[in-house]
Amino acid sequence: MRLSTFLALFRPALPLILGLSLGCSLSLLMVSWTQGDTDDPCGDELAKGGLFLGRRDAQRGGRDGAGEEDFQPRIVPYHKDPNKPHKKVLRTRYIHTELGIRERLLAGVLTSRATLSTLAVAVNRTVAHHFHRTFFFTGLRSPKVPHGMTVIAHGDDRPVWLMYETVRHLHQHYGSEYDWFLLAQDDTYMQAGRLSELVGHLSAGQDLYMGRAEEFIGGEEKARYCHGGYGYLLSRSLLARLQPHLDTCRNDILSVRPDEWLGRCIIDYLGLSCMEVHQV
Ligand SMILES: *[C@@H]1O[C@H](CO)[C@@H](O)[C@H](O)[C@H]1NC(C)=O
Repeated sequence: MRLSTFLALFRPALPLILGLSLGCSLSLLMVSWTQGDTDDPCGDELAKGGLFLGRRDAQRGGRDGAGEEDFQPRIVPYHKDPNKPHKKVLRTRYIHTELGIRERLLAGVLTSRATLSTLAVAVNRTVAHHFHRTFFFTGLRSPKVPHGMTVIAHGDDRPVWLMYETVRHLHQHYGSEYDWFLLAQDDTYMQAGRLSELVGHLSAGQDLYMGRAEEFIGGEEKARYCHGGYGYLLSRSLLARLQPHLDTCRNDILSVRPDEWLGRCIIDYLGLSCMEVHQV
């Protein structure tokens, strides 16, 4: 009588208890497979089958050399030398700077005072959300900066100067924060989604100057520049290598078109031509 009441009380919890005990025994089984000795035939069989490849590799690594002996723990005492001045650890402002983690893509859009409130705003509304950050570069200061847009004014309206200042600015302020820089005009038609996807597949750390390659007018040479109207990508390392030459380029290269000027500078000083396709 009492037993049956007890059981009736117990019944709802029965599946739970069963499940728990089954889970426990299964996990115990797993422990003996994955943590057992090497001579454990079961573990070895599985390892041969390739199931625990990682573990075998780890063991092999440990077997050669010092790993053979039993590891003896040792206490390393911490002495603070009172004669030495206390070294202050300099922390960067953001943890990702300290760890060297960079974002993928920053977009720089070259705009002008006349089109800032029209084309640039359209860029901001249609494609800017595909990039981690978008900056708008313009020559002269604009009386009215559209809401929610970062506009960087350089104070000189000549297109080549704007390009020079833009590239310099990108390198100086964001050269260590981003892997890729997209330079485009405010009237550039962009498939921004595809672009940011492409950038996600490119490996960082290579010099890359990629976009729509165009020949120089009247030029016999094979080297091409990336046409600004289509936008182009510059890699972080290219930007870093280009930086020391920018002033020379600004003074020596005569061009009225900013994209040609930059192309000339990259071709002459880094020996790189605009690429349309790239093998990842
Ligand atoms: C530009 O984009 C930002 C972010 O999407 C938005 O907050 C802002 O209102 C936009 N500005 C204009 C002028 O459309």
